[in-house]
Amino acid sequence: MDNTHESVDSATTEDQGPLNRQDLTDRSPGDSSGTTPEHLVLPGEPELEAAAVALHDLTGAQPELLGPAPAARKPHPAAAVQPDAEIGPTGRPWPKLPPPEPPSSHGPAMIVAMCNQKGGVGKTTSTINLGAALVETGRTVLLVDFDPQGSLSVGLGVNPHTLEVSIYNLLLGRNVSPDEVIAKTEVEGLDILPSNIDLSAAEVQLVSEVAREQTLLRVLEKVRDRYDVILIDCAPSLGLLTINALTAADKVIMPLECEFFALRGIALLTDTISKVQDRLNPSLEILGILGTMYDPRTLHSREVLERVVQAFGETVFHTVIRRTVKFPETSVAGEPITTYASASPGAEAYRSLAREVLARCHAA
Ligand SMILES: Nc1ncnc2c1ncn2[C@@H]1O[C@H](COP(=O)(O)OP(=O)(O)OP(=O)(O)O)[C@@H](O)[C@H]1O
Ligand SMILES: [Mg+2]
Repeated sequence: MDNTHESVDSATTEDQGPLNRQDLTDRSPGDSSGTTPEHLVLPGEPELEAAAVALHDLTGAQPELLGPAPAARKPHPAAAVQPDAEIGPTGRPWPKLPPPEPPSSHGPAMIVAMCNQKGGVGKTTSTINLGAALVETGRTVLLVDFDPQGSLSVGLGVNPHTLEVSIYNLLLGRNVSPDEVIAKTEVEGLDILPSNIDLSAAEVQLVSEVAREQTLLRVLEKVRDRYDVILIDCAPSLGLLTINALTAADKVIMPLECEFFALRGIALLTDTISKVQDRLNPSLEILGILGTMYDPRTLHSREVLERVVQAFGETVFHTVIRRTVKFPETSVAGEPITTYASASPGAEAYRSLAREVLARCHAA
């Protein structure tokens, strides 16, 4: 697991990777002269190109690796753009997204996997907070902790060590019903299927199961009608558990840290998604790429985001999650940012993401 993020103080911009420090200080935040940063060769660049091509094959989106500024691109059909709209952090005009209507009835759920095999990119944080933001729109949401680390469970106040049954028992136990495992959270409408270290054994034990890749899907089918959205928090790996998550999912969200090494491995991830689409789940779609831990004060963060938008175009969500110490604080508090710091920019960002997610799903 990659834990490079842990060396970065979330409240400062001091240590943003092994970039030439001069690059970060040369230009002020408002300076747009770095829109084509040829001087900066990102280590994931060849991979980024490969991933953009793979994504093109998957979604039909046109990669424009060395193309014009992102603002010149066609807007996502899900969102009407006002002519005088302000430019968002991705360099594109902010779309006009109406507040989502509460659904008239619940279910069957759309299943979304939060997936990136790189560690510490904000998968768990995004699963919890997107889930909580969707609940605020009147949706019922089930969060699936599909990582043996159990971070999602901890982040919602569930102690993984004291669980008598967890998602592991649903995957491999014959006589366990989802109701025995599903736990309510402090947020009404937000339920969780918790996990703990037992789940790591499932990776090995599932190998001998018939239709092993569909095991999670079989579990989720039993509860799908009760929820509007099911979000799966994947582990930082592309092993059998993640393949199960991608097989169960209708859509994938790829959180991508706006940081030096973030682009590495993206080609491998898009390749895996493409294989799952070919062999196991033809209806799987990439819902979007989510920029996380964005720090607009650093040129580096802005450049990484710009490269990602150049490569992946409209697949990138307009909403970008900024780096703030509030998120680690919410993990300690065991609640989503939407309740812990309801008026904070972080909470607003996940509400904005929820609107984009719903708009994209309805446009699909
Ligand atoms: N926007 C953010 N700003 C600052 N810190 C953040 C942000 N998002 C997440 N974090 C923190 O970064 C760490 C990693 O985040 P998170 O656990 O969500 O990543 P992950 O991709 O799920 O990691 P893993 O791959 O280990 O499961 C956590 O301590 C979290 O609180
Ligand atoms: Mg996680």
